[in-house]
Amino acid sequence: MPKKVFLSLKYPQLAIDMLTQAGFDITINESNNLIPQDELINICQEYDALLSTGSNKIDAHFLKSCQHLDVISQFAVGYDNIDVQAAKQFGIVIGNAPGAMTEATADVAFGLMIMVSRKMVYMHKTIEKGQWEHFVPTANLGFELDGKTLGVFGLGTIGMVMAKRCKAAYGMDIIYHNRSRNQAAEDTLNAKYVSFDELLAQSDVLSVHSNLTEETKGVFGKDAFAKMKNSTVFINTARGGIHNETDLIEALKNGSIWGAGLDVTNPEPMQPNNPLLQMENVAVLPHIGSSTVEARNEMARMSAQNIIDFYKTGKIPHPVT
Ligand code: 8YV
Repeated sequence: MPKKVFLSLKYPQLAIDMLTQAGFDITINESNNLIPQDELINICQEYDALLSTGSNKIDAHFLKSCQHLDVISQFAVGYDNIDVQAAKQFGIVIGNAPGAMTEATADVAFGLMIMVSRKMVYMHKTIEKGQWEHFVPTANLGFELDGKTLGVFGLGTIGMVMAKRCKAAYGMDIIYHNRSRNQAAEDTLNAKYVSFDELLAQSDVLSVHSNLTEETKGVFGKDAFAKMKNSTVFINTARGGIHNETDLIEALKNGSIWGAGLDVTNPEPMQPNNPLLQMENVAVLPHIGSSTVEARNEMARMSAQNIIDFYKTGKIPHPVT
């Protein structure tokens, strides 16, 4: 009997082809609608493995109710939606797709930095509103990035690529705050390790690239924004839960920071009446960090390979432990 795999969304064809060719009996959620947790639990009773995504809530309740699953492979690098300890307890193997979206996500962070420093999204909207009038020498002023300081919170794979781009394009000085030192960044980019408070005080652009954990949840809140320069741009392409959105709105309103570029919000999706969307120095994107053909295909390949290898060898190439 072939193993049965449920695909919680319609993932790229490559994943479907790989699993089919490897002889799995697959079922795809062709609707592409997010399946509510109770419904997904019911569905999974019939399956051996699940291909999941960040928006599937794979918490202790889900895992307890689906403890017969052999493997859950996540079509993402982040897995803050999964209770990894509970999975371990129930003997369910978890895999993900690390590195697949590194370039794509760093591009979004880099793009947001430029969009915000030159108010590009807001300026585009003024034309739509019929507000492009005569030239005013002192209006619509942004700032230049050349020689500025990039602060990276969480200098891992994606943060490193963002730092490389900023160094190459603008000769930016790189400072970072991590749980552990990043020697490669220090050697190749002359990146300087600083305390969290120093990161807040010195960054002209502060870009978040860490995982969402108990430790990082809400760490960019009222106190952090108050310690930043009033000329700083805050960028988050990692997880919305790392910043406190109410405090961010307040910080932008009272001028404790200059602007913000977000690819992740809290909650997601962001509601259309969110005040951030009306602000001049803000750009918000709907979590498109990994939305390139290249990244999505690589995510498909890695997440399908996890399932294939698990049943072939008992080991997966990209385990989450
Ligand atoms: C996905 C992501 O869009 O990989 C991640 O961690 O945030 C994105 O690539 C999303 O999580 C889909 O699962």
